[in-house]
Amino acid sequence: MPQGVLTSYKQFLPINENTPIFSLGEGQTPLIKSRNIVKIIGCRELYFKFEGCNPTGSFKDRGMVLAVAKALEKGVTNIVCASTGNTSASAAAYGAYLGLKTTIIVPQGKVASGKLAQAIAYGAHIAVIKGNFDSALSIARELSSKHPIELVNSINPNRIEGQKTAAFEIVDDIKRAPELLFIPVGNAGNISAYWKGFKEYFELGFSKELPEFHGYQAAGASPLVTGKVVENPETIASAIRIGNPASWENAIKARDESGGLIQSVTDEEIISAYQLLASNEGIFCEPASAASLAGLILEKKNGSDFHDKTIVCIVTGNGLKDPENAIKISPASYGEYQNDYESVEKVLVN
Ligand code: F0G
Repeated sequence: MPQGVLTSYKQFLPINENTPIFSLGEGQTPLIKSRNIVKIIGCRELYFKFEGCNPTGSFKDRGMVLAVAKALEKGVTNIVCASTGNTSASAAAYGAYLGLKTTIIVPQGKVASGKLAQAIAYGAHIAVIKGNFDSALSIARELSSKHPIELVNSINPNRIEGQKTAAFEIVDDIKRAPELLFIPVGNAGNISAYWKGFKEYFELGFSKELPEFHGYQAAGASPLVTGKVVENPETIASAIRIGNPASWENAIKARDESGGLIQSVTDEEIISAYQLLASNEGIFCEPASAASLAGLILEKKNGSDFHDKTIVCIVTGNGLKDPENAIKISPASYGEYQNDYESVEKVLVN
């Protein structure tokens, strides 16, 4: 039985005797060893950290469990977040479990249907605004500054603390840190959290090395690459359709301290990595989550030599979050047959 993030990594988290401990089963997600894509990349080892296996289907649960625990510790019973979908699904789930009033602010028409379905099912109060994620976040920030409502976006430091446990799990699993870590970047909380996690484990002597971070944004929403806020971000990867990341400085710090880079991949590159991951490794993720592998493939294409590298790609969310794109993007191989055994056999077995 999974113990959850708060129990598994208690001594590394800001938990005291007044912090309530609970879990929906977050964390302990699989580090899947590549069988096929590793051959394309030509690296020593390639792993996918599949965060889509968290209880609400994304990495957000790791940080949400702690953010909600700390809100309860303070006696706060209302939480709010802005979201491109996954944060809201996670907040709504933990809010439901703990009996909190959860308000989510989301951009109209820009949230994948699976994520919206989750927030509705968990019973959150949903405010749909005619604006993008960045304006939703500024409304959420103002609400929480004027009312006793806990903001559970990743600018809440407890979110980052919880999310850093994914880095711990990688080191615990392979008994070292990888040479390279590829990760999708949107609001930039997760890249900051992973860097914090790897550094802490390194400083405590659990790993002898630190990974080089390769963050990837979508080309139409790549402020950290261009150095300029994007007023109208656009990409098929709706989870990372963000023009002004809240953790901008920390992402740059993770990039520079690790000696890495933050670059962008096009929607076409994201889609092709997304298909490859599902059809060659059995890992069905949402489009934004494939930005990490898309970046790795792009670097390989541009001539990088990875033969002596152990590489981890973070796969941030589950493919079921965005069924419309799955059906639209993927080359389906199905047909309609007569309702009898022979006609199906004739077509399929020859
Ligand atoms: N991948 C997925 C599936 C996400 O949902 C997000 C962010 C990211 C990557 C990027 O992580 O923002 O920490 O850099 N989703 C947020 C949300 C913004 O509202 O669910 P980040």
